[in-house]
Amino acid sequence: MHALSMEPGLSSPHSQMRILALANQKGGVGKTTTAINLGTALAAIGERVLVIDLDPQGNASTGLGVDRRDRRLSTYDVLIAERTLASVIQETAVPRLALAPATIDLAGVELEIADHKDRAHRLRAALAALAQEQSADTNEAAFTYVLIDCPPSLNLITMNAMAAAHAVLVPLQCEFFALEGLTQLLSTVDHVRTNLNPGLALHGIVLTMFDSRNSLATQVVADVRGFLGEKVYETVIPRNVRISEAPSHGKPVLLYDLKCAGSQAYLKLASEMIQRERAYRATESGGAQTSPNQHPEKPNDESLQNGG
Ligand SMILES: Nc1ncnc2c1ncn2[C@@H]1O[C@H](COP(=O)(O)OP(=O)(O)OP(=O)(O)O)[C@@H](O)[C@H]1O
Ligand SMILES: [Mg+2]
Repeated sequence: MHALSMEPGLSSPHSQMRILALANQKGGVGKTTTAINLGTALAAIGERVLVIDLDPQGNASTGLGVDRRDRRLSTYDVLIAERTLASVIQETAVPRLALAPATIDLAGVELEIADHKDRAHRLRAALAALAQEQSADTNEAAFTYVLIDCPPSLNLITMNAMAAAHAVLVPLQCEFFALEGLTQLLSTVDHVRTNLNPGLALHGIVLTMFDSRNSLATQVVADVRGFLGEKVYETVIPRNVRISEAPSHGKPVLLYDLKCAGSQAYLKLASEMIQRERAYRATESGGAQTSPNQHPEKPNDESLQNGG
């Protein structure tokens, strides 16, 4: 649909900053919930995390407690290239977790930037500028993880996320139609790799909203693992009422109820992700490079309560 081309001359995103796009064109599969709670869990184990809300619905912003009135500047301003990413970022109540919020203006951004040659690379350029700023500023702890919450569409906004990311993380709901649409999503990732971002990897599939009382859900998990093998995370996020209650309190579930099954699952997912990242970095650099942070296997409860 969009005639997209590779943009030369843009430096690749900063190597210390791992940029992951949470994408699935299916609605309501847990993209936003995973961005918020995986982000919080990563922050709790010592990472410095930025969540970029790229959905006009702004659910990640609401779920992280940033009221619409406080979203004067947003990712819309970044995509129309009127503001730097650094200038729209806000700290959240979660220590070490920052947010680039979204507003409804984003809904019209596709038309606004359609005629620009760099339209698919706006976010990539903004992240490259942010990385450069952060490496120059010794006082500012640089982001180690950037999670981009995409809208439920394979539109230009999602293209911007995939063009900017090192890898795509796909939340998949454990339901009958889970695999439907996945082929299209995976071929979009291939398309972006060919045309926009040769380094783009498929990070993994996160199974969400698993209900153990539903035998169909167990079958879906088996099917998805059969189809995608190791790309599917071991950790499965259960259906958990606390997860769905938390956003109405403007809190990640880890702050709302740390002990519940949902919080524990997201902590487990974060640990698994760090392990995978370590293995990935080791193969990439022949084992020479290590993670910028040391990760205790478990966060202490204090690390979540401070600063909130
Ligand atoms: N593990 C879970 N247990 C219970 N409810 C959940 C769980 N994960 C997500 N939900 C709820 O399901 C709904 C959809 O989740 P979410 O908003 O994260 O999906 P999404 O993929 O971001 O949706 P959209 O495509 O509209 O952006 C929300 O109401 C959320 O609170
Ligand atoms: Mg969402």
